[in-house]
Amino acid sequence: MSGAQPGPAASASAPRILPGRVRVRRATPRDLESVIALRLALLREHPDHPIYGRLRHDIGARARRLFASQLRSPIEVILLGELDGGVVGVLRCVESTGSPLLEPERYAYVSSSYVRPDARRRGVLRALLGEAERWARARGLDQMRLHNVAGSVTADRAWSALGFLVVEEVRVRDLRDGGTH
Ligand SMILES: CC(C)(COP(=O)(O)OP(=O)(O)OC[C@H]1O[C@@H](n2cnc3c(N)ncnc32)[C@H](O)[C@@H]1OP(=O)(O)O)[C@@H](O)C(=O)NCCC(=O)NCCS
Repeated sequence: MSGAQPGPAASASAPRILPGRVRVRRATPRDLESVIALRLALLREHPDHPIYGRLRHDIGARARRLFASQLRSPIEVILLGELDGGVVGVLRCVESTGSPLLEPERYAYVSSSYVRPDARRRGVLRALLGEAERWARARGLDQMRLHNVAGSVTADRAWSALGFLVVEEVRVRDLRDGGTH
C-alpha cells in the first residue's frame, strides 16, 4: 500500500528489527490477534496516566470483542505497519462527526497509534499516517484530529513532525477520595 525509505544504518546496539522498507496494509478480521497485542501494548505504555492507566481487569476479553467489531466497521480503518514481513505497528482512523454548528461536518479521527519499541524511528508511524491520510481524502474528509498523552516528548515530537498542531487541551479532575479543590 505504501512505503518509506530505509532507516539509518544499524549500530552495534541495533535492535532486532533491522532497517528495511515499511509496508502498510489494512487489517482484516484475520489480524485480530496482532491488533489486540499492539493496542494493549499501547495502553500499557502509560500505567500512571489518569485515563489510560485505569485498565479493566477483564481487558483482554473486552479488547477482543471491541476490536473485532471495529475491524468490521464501514466507517473506520485499522492499519498495520510491517517491517521485513513482521507486524510492528498499528494506527486506527475513524470517520467522525463534528459539531453541527461547525465545519467540517465530518473529520478523520486518528487513534491507537503504536509502534513496537524495537521498530521505532524507522518511519512506521509516518507510513501509517500517510495511508490514513489517503483513506481520509478518498472519503472526502479534509481534516485529521487526534488526542495525545500529555508529557510524552516522543508523542509530541512525532505528531508535530507529522504536521499536527496543538489546538485544545483535555483536563481531568479526579472525584475519588473527596476530589475537592
Ligand atoms: C510515537 C510512535 C508511534 C512513533 O512511531 P515511529 O514509527 O517511531 O515514528 P516515525 O519513525 O514514523 O517518526 C516520524 C517522525 O516523528 C518524529 N519522532 C518520532 N519519534 C521521535 C522521538 N523519539 N524523538 C524525536 N522525534 C521523534 C521524527 O521527526 C520522525 O521523523 P524522522 O525519524 O525522519 O526524524 C512510537 O514512538 C510509539 O509507539 N510510542 C509509544 C506509544 C505512543 O506514544 N503513541 C502515540 C500515542 S498519542
